[in-house]
Amino acid sequence: MRIAVVGSGYVGLVAGACLADMGHEVTVVDNDQKKLAALKSGQVPIHEHFLPELLGRHRDQRLTFSDDLQHAVRISSAIFVAVGTPPTDSGDADLSYVESVAREISGAINGYKIVVEKSTVPVYTSEWVRKIILRNGADADSFDVASNPEFLREGTAVTDFLFPDRIVVGADSEPCARVMREIYAPLCDGSYYKRPDAIPQPDRSQIPPPLIVTSTKSAELIKHASNAFLAMKISFINAVASICESVGANVQQVCQGVGTDSRIGPRFLNPGIGYGGSCFPKDLMAFRSVARECGYDFRLLDEVIRINEEQRQRFLRKVRNALWTLRGKRLAVLGLAFKGGTDDIRESPAILLIQSLVQEGCCVTAYDPAAMDRASGVLPPGVQFAKGAYEAATDADALLILTEWEEFATLDLQQVREKLRYPIVIDGRNLYNPEVMASHGLSYYSVGRAPALPEGSPVRSQAANRPRQT
Ligand code: UGA
Repeated sequence: MRIAVVGSGYVGLVAGACLADMGHEVTVVDNDQKKLAALKSGQVPIHEHFLPELLGRHRDQRLTFSDDLQHAVRISSAIFVAVGTPPTDSGDADLSYVESVAREISGAINGYKIVVEKSTVPVYTSEWVRKIILRNGADADSFDVASNPEFLREGTAVTDFLFPDRIVVGADSEPCARVMREIYAPLCDGSYYKRPDAIPQPDRSQIPPPLIVTSTKSAELIKHASNAFLAMKISFINAVASICESVGANVQQVCQGVGTDSRIGPRFLNPGIGYGGSCFPKDLMAFRSVARECGYDFRLLDEVIRINEEQRQRFLRKVRNALWTLRGKRLAVLGLAFKGGTDDIRESPAILLIQSLVQEGCCVTAYDPAAMDRASGVLPPGVQFAKGAYEAATDADALLILTEWEEFATLDLQQVREKLRYPIVIDGRNLYNPEVMASHGLSYYSVGRAPALPEGSPVRSQAANRPRQT
């Protein structure tokens, strides 16, 4: 099928590349000439596993890039709208890009088309998109609007798209649902997975995925409700981690015990320094705002957001408790991205923490495998960047782990111990076993677990006498 994807951001680009890999003829449309030129010349603007491979495979064949939206609409049966929906000052999603795309699509409709919302949008957006297209002259029976929320995670976006837990299609007419089923047929009938050149199947994926058809409004709500629930799981376990610290329990053991209940599940129960990224913070605000407009005060979401912010403050207190004073302390920071596997620093808890630490007078040397370029534009002047974890650790008063990159979980602890000026590691992502850290001579502070201090550590005897700090 010929498909247009409007917007070459994270979702648009990944969707375009994956739809092409499923066998469709895809035109990705963007009005940013610089971005288009980069994409046409073979550059890959985001750090995403398998994306360079798919773009290389299909560029100039089943996948083309264009700034001509109207032409792309005329030649396509389905138009996926994947433009940005940034938050306004009040937390609502700004839908002006969606509206202007809908207006432009209207003028180019030359036969039955479906317009598919792929961006995360509040409930009722599909109704508005329909109204705007009608207002601008299109015939009522010449198009339908579908909602097809995307559940991909950054860092695993390509495999999440091609091996989804489920495909949700919100369609209010049978012809529209039929087109959507046809688009996803290579995944739902399993034929994609039999191809020798298919992207490798990740662990835990179930193929073929189910396709769930709902009304457009339900599909819009599914997206917001899913993200809000996942964020709630993270805040819940972070709150439990705080209690663990106060009573001397181990959050990892609690997670194991809680997560093995199949009704709860172990995923998204990792405590840390709070969630970040371009989705959860924005979507929670937007969902709260949608609820308020409908007359429901969704206070549970306020609490999820509050716990998330508090989690960063708790981590700062942990750094202070471990180091006593902060002014002039030299800190090695591992991790800048909002999570491992991506170069995205939007709403990254690591960046927010570094800003606070610098404000308190710390000197920071940071290392991240992918996000240093982006971070250098937003971090305060004076933050130094290292070429690797051991260089960052050299002569530091403590090492802080702020992003869950795999390579930070497999450091040579002997080397870390030797490089550091003081053998202190404060881990915001619980990447290490506390006993192992202590046995390597490191004083180790993590989230929801008691500090582990090496035998004979001066702090060990003091810590035993001090009331627990929360
Ligand atoms: C999230 C959702 O997981 C996707 O399903 C959704 O499609 C996407 O938002 C979106 O709406 O576009 P993403 O923001 O890429 O995906 O990242 P996640 O893997 O969900 O992580 C979000 C944040 O939560 C990160 O800062 C991560 O470190 C943190 N996190 C995650 C935890 O602190 N603990 C966990 O157990 C899991």
